[in-house]
Amino acid sequence: PPMAAAVGSPEDVRNLSHYVLSLSKSPHDSLRASLGKSKFSACAACHGMDGKGNQALGAPNLTDDVWLHGWGEAAITAMINNGKTNQMPAQAEKLTEAQINVLASYVWSLSSNGAAAAAR
Ligand code: HEC
Repeated sequence: PPMAAAVGSPEDVRNLSHYVLSLSKSPHDSLRASLGKSKFSACAACHGMDGKGNQALGAPNLTDDVWLHGWGEAAITAMINNGKTNQMPAQAEKLTEAQINVLASYVWSLSSNGAAAAAR
């Protein structure tokens, strides 16, 4: 959701962006990050106090340096100000059930969980 109102002034949002960047050790301004840290409580309900995310809510891990929607002060500030509702287009019309099964196995094999399961 757009979170700027819960965070405070544009300066607060900017400081918080640097704190978010610091969670993954991405380049950031450490003074701004320390000023922004307390504002992260507004984010913790979904991303967790430690920023590691919540799969059930679809809230990404902010500590892993994997960015779905870009990183850097401008990208994170825009995310806080505007929010984002991503949607994957449905594919059922284009594929048979058998193709979906095979694709699901393939996608699972790409993840570290899938690779570990295949190795067992
Ligand atoms: C109500 C739950 C919720 C709250 C509160 C929330 N977020 Fe999120 N956040 C999400 C979800 C869900 C996504 C994934 C959006 C998508 O990809 O469609 C997300 C995505 C993000 C991303 C993008 C991550 C990436 O990989 O590109 C950032 C950055 C982010 N949130 C930061 C914050 C910050 C900072 C706050 C607090 C000011 C916050 N969020 C509050 C649910 C939340």
